[in-house]
Amino acid sequence: MKFNTKTIHGGQEHDPAYGAVMPPIYQTSTYAQSTPGGHKGYEYSRTHNPTRNALEKSFASIENGKFGLAFSSGMAAIDTVIKLLNPGDEVISTNDLYGGTYRLFTKVYEKYGVKFHFIGMENANNIESYVNDNTKLIWVETPTNPMMNIIDIDQTAKIAKKYNILLAVDNTFATPYLQQPLDLGADIVMHSATKYLGGHSDVVMGALIVNDPELAEKLAFLQNSSGAVCGPQDSFLMLRGIKTLHIRMQRHCENGKAIAEYLANHPKIEKVYWPGFETHPNHDIAKLQMRDFGGMLSFTSKGNNYKEAVKIVERLKLFTLAESLGGVESLSGHPASMTHASIPKEEREKTGVVDSLIRLSVGIEDIEDLINDLKQALG
Ligand SMILES: Cc1ncc(COP(=O)(O)O)c(C=O)c1O
Repeated sequence: MKFNTKTIHGGQEHDPAYGAVMPPIYQTSTYAQSTPGGHKGYEYSRTHNPTRNALEKSFASIENGKFGLAFSSGMAAIDTVIKLLNPGDEVISTNDLYGGTYRLFTKVYEKYGVKFHFIGMENANNIESYVNDNTKLIWVETPTNPMMNIIDIDQTAKIAKKYNILLAVDNTFATPYLQQPLDLGADIVMHSATKYLGGHSDVVMGALIVNDPELAEKLAFLQNSSGAVCGPQDSFLMLRGIKTLHIRMQRHCENGKAIAEYLANHPKIEKVYWPGFETHPNHDIAKLQMRDFGGMLSFTSKGNNYKEAVKIVERLKLFTLAESLGGVESLSGHPASMTHASIPKEEREKTGVVDSLIRLSVGIEDIEDLINDLKQALG
């Protein structure tokens, strides 16, 4: 199956009971047994649920993986990956990453003796100098949030393989429509499925996808042991969202390009961060590993004024000022006071998250309306 077909049919079968085309919402916590252990493959819904299983197969299919695991949030999925580690282990991570991930690494796991190195990975060779005998995981976000840096997954995977280190890629921004990290050599793909996979801003959910059966078993053990699973109703909504991922992404990319170009030519704008520009430092890598450039972009205004940036996001009408991204509706965000508020100012500014930075999640509305909204807000 090709990608567009996989979003609709990948890993799916009609329900064996009545042939329902969409998987029923198996709203049950437990399953009848005829004799102890005499069941039809399901014992308890923390461990397995038919609706969640249908979704996990869909996750695996769209990422070209063998095993998919669904969690109650993206953070729960990341948490599960870090629980593979032991005290003393080290992680090399992108320095420009989602604030919640940074918080989990530094505020939760450092105290259990896991050491994190946050480094610029735009040049993959930079990674090798941080590798030592304790390095067990490389954590990559690409494009990064919110600076839209691009990291070469193939090169990073080669380094990870050379030293026998796991490579995990947070594929939330790109989605498998744009890039499939397992095909590029990653061991784990992670999603905040809350975003583009769900696509309608109505579900919070996380996903992990892997190929290695042993790794899948370890992750499933942690998923069941810690119990941060999603419910059947949310699994159903996620499956419904995934079915239109390819057509939504196509429009997100078209609108994203038009807005990046509009902003780049606006006299009040200092800089636009979007990997589709030839001037983007890793445009060539983006072109190689991504099918298009997505619907996420960030920009700074001239003068780098915190208050002015806040005014712009307040004046936007169609772009709703809100956390999150990846839904059909356009959203704006001010990372310094919102998603990245948990990162100290000196730290965030080192990676470009300055006071005037505004991040846009460009939706799939009519492009003329979106541009007019930006025009009136920028003044
Ligand atoms: C890139 C990225 N990774 C992970 C997360 C965390 O996912 P969730 O909010 O579903 O827990 C987010 C949330 O914004 C994100 O943007």
